[in-house]
Amino acid sequence: MDVEAMKRAAAKEALKFVEDEMVVGLGTGSTASYFIELLGRRVREEGLEVYGIPTSYQSRLLAIENGIPILSLDQADAIDIAVDGADEVDPELNLIKGRGAALTMEKIIEYRAGTFIVLVDEGKLVSRLGERAAVPIEVIPAAWRAIAEEIEIFNATAELRMAKNKDGPVVTENGNFILDARFARIEGPLDMEVELNTIPGVVENGIFADIADVVIVGGKEGVKRLER
Ligand code: A5P
Repeated sequence: MDVEAMKRAAAKEALKFVEDEMVVGLGTGSTASYFIELLGRRVREEGLEVYGIPTSYQSRLLAIENGIPILSLDQADAIDIAVDGADEVDPELNLIKGRGAALTMEKIIEYRAGTFIVLVDEGKLVSRLGERAAVPIEVIPAAWRAIAEEIEIFNATAELRMAKNKDGPVVTENGNFILDARFARIEGPLDMEVELNTIPGVVENGIFADIADVVIVGGKEGVKRLER
């Protein structure tokens, strides 16, 4: 089974959590996209009645393309479930997210969801956060350099994320920059998440500690669920 098939299998398993009348937070990235496509198929073929709340332009466009009615966050009374991918998952189900630069809206929506379901292929499981992935940090543009210097206090280095098909830095959907921070070691993910957000000019960071309820892992041996 290749990685894409693992992601798709995890996305298919997540559909079992969706019921009629639910408001569903729609994540960003390649794995979440599989989920949105499969959810759209159920809406079109089975008449499933759900509303999606997108976490990015990517998920918004994909939801529209797949026939999923959408709401903005301020139109929804509650969010029943949210489904999204991750860059790393540790044994306590803490996450690093934000490779796609959508971390701020992802965290707002996933924090509010009744159940937050994470979809990954088995290659995303790590014994400690930061083993492979950098921690993305969304920052106010004018403060990027000051914040990059502040982050060195945590025994980390931070790099301004540059765009691929645009000159200059990545600009998020909120008009901010992204710093990718590599830590020598992240001891307590929750403490680090909170501390990073106390630096003036930091909008949000990509450590999602203590927030995932279920992690669905697609692997060579099939799909398994990890729960807190
Ligand atoms: C988007 O900003 C990210 O948080 C993604 O959800 C995360 O990077 C996982 O993406 P993939 O499913 O593409 O690996």
